[in-house]
Amino acid sequence: MRQFIDALVEKFQYQSTHLLMILREIQSSYQHIPGPAIEQLAKLLQIPRTQIISVVEFYSFFHLAPRGEYELLMSDSITDHMLGKKSLIDYFAQKLNVAVGEVRQDGVVSLDNTSCTGMCDQGPAGLVNGHALTRLDRPRIDQITDLINQQQPLADWPAELFRVEDNILRAGPLLKQQIEQGAALRAMLKRGLKETLAELEKSGLRGRGGAGFNTALKWRFCSEAHDSQRYVVCNADEGEPGTFKDRVLLNSFAHDVFEGMTLCAAITGASKGFLYLRGEYLHLYEKLESVLHERRQAGLLANDILGAGFNFDIAICLGAGAYICGEESTLIESLEGKCGIPRNRPPYPVTHGYLGKPTVVDNVETFMAAACIAVNGGNWFAKVGTEKSKGTKILSISGDCARPGIYEFPFGTSIRAILDDCGAFDVFGVQVGGPSGTFISDREFDRQLSFEDLATAGSFIVFNTSRNILDIVQNFTHFFAHESCGFCTPCRVGTALLKKQFDKIIEGHGSAGDVVALEELCHLTKNYSHCGLGQSAANPLLTTLERYPELYQKQLKKISYEPGFDLDGALATARRLAKRNDANAHLGQIGEDHQ
Ligand SMILES: Cc1cc2nc3c(=O)[nH]c(=O)nc-3n(C[C@H](O)[C@H](O)[C@H](O)COP(=O)(O)O)c2cc1C
Ligand code: SF4
Repeated sequence: MRQFIDALVEKFQYQSTHLLMILREIQSSYQHIPGPAIEQLAKLLQIPRTQIISVVEFYSFFHLAPRGEYELLMSDSITDHMLGKKSLIDYFAQKLNVAVGEVRQDGVVSLDNTSCTGMCDQGPAGLVNGHALTRLDRPRIDQITDLINQQQPLADWPAELFRVEDNILRAGPLLKQQIEQGAALRAMLKRGLKETLAELEKSGLRGRGGAGFNTALKWRFCSEAHDSQRYVVCNADEGEPGTFKDRVLLNSFAHDVFEGMTLCAAITGASKGFLYLRGEYLHLYEKLESVLHERRQAGLLANDILGAGFNFDIAICLGAGAYICGEESTLIESLEGKCGIPRNRPPYPVTHGYLGKPTVVDNVETFMAAACIAVNGGNWFAKVGTEKSKGTKILSISGDCARPGIYEFPFGTSIRAILDDCGAFDVFGVQVGGPSGTFISDREFDRQLSFEDLATAGSFIVFNTSRNILDIVQNFTHFFAHESCGFCTPCRVGTALLKKQFDKIIEGHGSAGDVVALEELCHLTKNYSHCGLGQSAANPLLTTLERYPELYQKQLKKISYEPGFDLDGALATARRLAKRNDANAHLGQIGEDHQ
């Protein structure tokens, strides 16, 4: 092991910023991160061993105790559940003779759950040693069980088990065809840097990762920051359950995405870029490395790009199973080899980002759109969409519809039109924007896809009338409790209490007072959490409490429900109380009440 670690650290140039990539390789070779490896890493990278241990403990794909030689994880997205995930994982456990969350006695296999793996259009999905498994069913599980029991190397497993489809079902201006390689950079060199930024401004492009910040403004801020070293980062963490469009863009439009990053580098003066790729998309890693290689060969990356005298190169960094790392400041921490804990903002990454230097962090789709705008001009983009939402949005559609997959719609399209297009019927509601977004009921289908009305980074999950909405809320509430990074009390305690309180109600042990306390807790978690995760963790509860209080009412213990008790009135009081400023004290009180 000593030699292995020496060679590994040398490969990563003794840089502690590469800690995640180093740990990934150790985990993959030893099924865990052994103590002696940590000691050796600490010496070679010159960082405290306790820092390495906290990183190992933070990321869900690293372990201090061995996992199986075949580490099986099943995706826990609501769409996987809708496709029968629960009975499939039980079947896996029975066939493989291993309990969920455990390693089999012979050490050959382990089985567990993992957050959404980004395959909601082809689930139930899973991972084996980090590689995506799709369309799991009983015959596939039988096949996988045999392969594992015969200890067949993954390289010899049938490719069909790992087949990932793009499922592009509606192409608009961005998805219709790839831009010619280098076309955006040539257009930029012809037009000039300032003029290209002006075109981007004219296009009205807003970030596609959720927050919708004006892209040209972000690039301008970074270019004006006082520092000679700048960075460009592409956020391909795509952890919001129900989102998988970046996976498709990176599979089929990687050149466009890298071209957008190179464009940004030229405009901002950056010489180094990173693609932060979620660990669940390991299957894309080699292909993306070969696209980067191709671009270097073609003079579109590395030194003296297109003979214009500017240098820029891109490295790929794989994540290790932490949804919070999609938040931009957390992503930067992770890129620096640290635990995924959000920074205080301001200062923002445009002035203090990677290694404290000015950094642009943009979503995959944003970079791709920027490249297309450089080729076709700002007006080409701005003529589509609404006043405040220009262009089109690429959606990942899944759930109860005949044609799950990727769709590109002009902003302003109604939810009804989207549902018609994807073959949804008998629809009860739609989760727009994933668990951190909004649940809309069948009375709201005339609302529009736009920043003015319903914003989404891309997740669009359809539910028909056969679904129990409280099961959906439970899945989302558990997701947030699992993914909270634990840094701040309102979210760490709040998400755990939301989960506990909701489970109590759904299991029929709750009183009307518990529903009121649940709503209070929602407001406290939302209003006092440090970052976007905690601030949106209560959204599934709040949006459904508001729309369907009667569903919560039905779950209450009969005994607690006094005739004439006004649950709506009590909830309104809770909403008023939530506005008070003594929130932290209150949260502590509720916490104590639940111990
Ligand atoms: C908990 C959390 C998770 C996020 N996950 C992602 C993600 O996976 N991909 C992404 O592009 N943005 C994500 N974001 C938004 C980023 O913080 C950031 O706004 C975005 O990368 C900026 O790029 P854009 O301007 O192109 O949208 C997340 C935000 C939060 C709070
Ligand atoms: S809100 Fe949650 S995820 Fe964000 S910093 Fe606090 S504990 Fe971490």
